[in-house]
Amino acid sequence: MNNFIFENATKTYFGKGCVREYLASLTAPYGQTVLLCYGGGSIKRNGVYDEVLACLEKAGQKVVEFSGIGANPTYARVLEGAKLARESKADLILGVGGGSVMDCCKAIALAAVYEGDIWTDFWARPGVIDFDPLPLGVIVTVAGTGSEMNGGAVITNEEQKIKTGRDYPRCNARFALMDPTYTYSVPEKQMVSGGFDILSHIMETYFSEPDEENVSDDISEALMRGVIRDLRAAIQNPEDYAARSNLMWESTMAENRIIKLGKRMDFECHQMEHQLGAYTDCNHGAGLAVLHPVYYRHIYRDGLVKFRRFAVNVWGISAEGKTDEELARAGVEALADFIREIGLPTTLRELGVNASTDLKAIADSCNLAPGSYRRMTHEEILKIFQECY
Ligand code: NZQ
Ligand code: ZN
Repeated sequence: MNNFIFENATKTYFGKGCVREYLASLTAPYGQTVLLCYGGGSIKRNGVYDEVLACLEKAGQKVVEFSGIGANPTYARVLEGAKLARESKADLILGVGGGSVMDCCKAIALAAVYEGDIWTDFWARPGVIDFDPLPLGVIVTVAGTGSEMNGGAVITNEEQKIKTGRDYPRCNARFALMDPTYTYSVPEKQMVSGGFDILSHIMETYFSEPDEENVSDDISEALMRGVIRDLRAAIQNPEDYAARSNLMWESTMAENRIIKLGKRMDFECHQMEHQLGAYTDCNHGAGLAVLHPVYYRHIYRDGLVKFRRFAVNVWGISAEGKTDEELARAGVEALADFIREIGLPTTLRELGVNASTDLKAIADSCNLAPGSYRRMTHEEILKIFQECY
């Protein structure tokens, strides 16, 4: 394994009823004003909003609301939220939602206290955060990004057409509340896209060096088998508590840095999907579902040992009578079959990308991941996009 230092600053409260039980006492140490941030209104329809407000009232908090945070949060929205946080003298930011809300909140927490321009200093290039952002707490309502237990925030700069993520440990939420029953109301389409995002985070970590036996890859295989099993069960019964709670924790485990320890990591599919998102505003998990099989058909020969292992240990494919290459390829095709089985799109066309989209401009704007089995070129990324179309 490669060297590492590990810390995770987020205290996590998991399970049915955890918001009712802990939220009021968790807000008290920060002060009396909470900036409550959420998305387009699902929390008003499923009762989460009422439950959260009741807890905040019990704690005697003054609540200021910042709502309507959309998917793929923009830098413009971050600045609006930061202005409101400053004007209302918020002591705590409370994000209730999925990755979009949580990521937006992390950036708001920074921008609310930083004198300069956070895009230029921390997103356009990696920066050093040597000050404390506003304290942040999150309540997760959909499994997928794992944003609740890391410092990552993916923000879209619409003017520059760049969607990029940075992970700063200082941006970790102070606390995360995760009640799996909150995810019962997530529509199937969003549930499977979030589920595929989890699988993608694990694969992007797994398909990278080292290739010798290591703890991270062992955990990753168990997590991948779990996501496949739990997604199937949650499709059958959206209120299957075991499946929903497993998915929620698998999502966190994929992105709380534990499986990344000692790994180089790839994340080229994420680089490609983020730029597709910057140009087309496509759904994150669905975009990844289109890209992964095609990308892996390009690179599996460069990581044959791991792709063989993936076929056998994740998909249960027998090695008997197959060459290494056939076995590795069978694993990639099993992944493609699973994507079809759970109803995710398999082409950019199905994803809603129209024919006039400038795929070359998108390909040219993608970062090239240094930890992949084979470093892409912008030409090869364009080829992948064209094959995905
Ligand atoms: O906006 P509302 O009305 O709340 O509806 C949301 C939204 O339409 C809905 N939803 C959430 N919880 C629900 C619910 N609907 C019914 N019942 C519930 N309980 O789900 C829709 C999608 O929400 P969103 O937050 O956009 O999805 P997701 O969690 O997939 O987040 C996507 C964003 O996170 C970034 C993505 O790039 C994208 O911008 N990522 C963040 C990462 C991180 N911070 O570590 C890593 C990821 O790789 C990813 O890039
Ligand atoms: Zn992702």
